[in-house]
Amino acid sequence: MLKKFISLVILAALAVTGLAGCNTSKEKQGAAEASEQQPIIVQGPMPIEAEKLAGHLEDVKEEKSGSFVFYKGKLEGYPVIVAKTGKGMENTAAATAVAIEKYDPAAIINQGTSGGHDPELNVFDIVLGERTVNLGSLKTGALDEGEGIEPKEWIPMDLMASEGSAGEDPDAENIRYFEGDEGLLAAAKAVKGKYEKGKVVEGTIGSADVWNNEVDRINWFHEKYGTSVEEMEGAAGAQIAAAYDVPFLGIRVLSNNKVNGGQYNPDTAEANQAYVLEVLKEYITTK
Ligand code: 5AD
Repeated sequence: MLKKFISLVILAALAVTGLAGCNTSKEKQGAAEASEQQPIIVQGPMPIEAEKLAGHLEDVKEEKSGSFVFYKGKLEGYPVIVAKTGKGMENTAAATAVAIEKYDPAAIINQGTSGGHDPELNVFDIVLGERTVNLGSLKTGALDEGEGIEPKEWIPMDLMASEGSAGEDPDAENIRYFEGDEGLLAAAKAVKGKYEKGKVVEGTIGSADVWNNEVDRINWFHEKYGTSVEEMEGAAGAQIAAAYDVPFLGIRVLSNNKVNGGQYNPDTAEANQAYVLEVLKEYITTK
């Protein structure tokens, strides 16, 4: 009887210590995960836009997913991943989703060149995307055969407005803006003074798989959407980042401006990258 009682006590004690041991190691594991810093992702569409930027990181390891290349490294000891997304909306959307699933980033910056929609902005000026908007989500007017095409009558279409047919839903006839993240914007504003090749302004970045060279069409976007610049990636990244609730900011340098005769200058890409590095360093101090 006594023997049975003693062995029961020993068994119970073992079970308790066993469980307690389990809890401790779980807690330790949790703490390790919590202390692991979430990386910041910087996207660049073209090889020169991503590879040069990746050259500023330490301990770089290259990883590929499909056609997307991720340069995983550190900037001043903090994990940063430069993503070479490829050009355009589809590449950017897919590369953003893959990066979020793979790396669980704290924030995403989408950067590169752009074309001016605002006559006040010159080649080498930089626009911080207070808002980003898809310029390709449009519904045309209803015209019969032989009645021609009327692009100025096209209506903005918000593809996120309803789960039904956006084409039939009058509530979807709105412009959908994606807001730039406040924390990233604050970091970008804080280092404006470090950029000496032009001015840095807050504005609206418009995106589509289209390069507009018709000044009247550019003016139509500028007036209707309030666009400062156009490019081919920002709104796609912003939409996917919003879907996962990841902070996002577009940072675009003007490499050309059709509305004031600003000639294309490829050196703008590197100037923007130098500024983005300053933004990153500033943002890291807040982490
Ligand atoms: N219109 C559209 N895209 C532009 N880009 C630079 N200027 C413009 C412009 N005026 C960028 C796009 C894309 C590449 C073709 O250059 O974002 O990555």
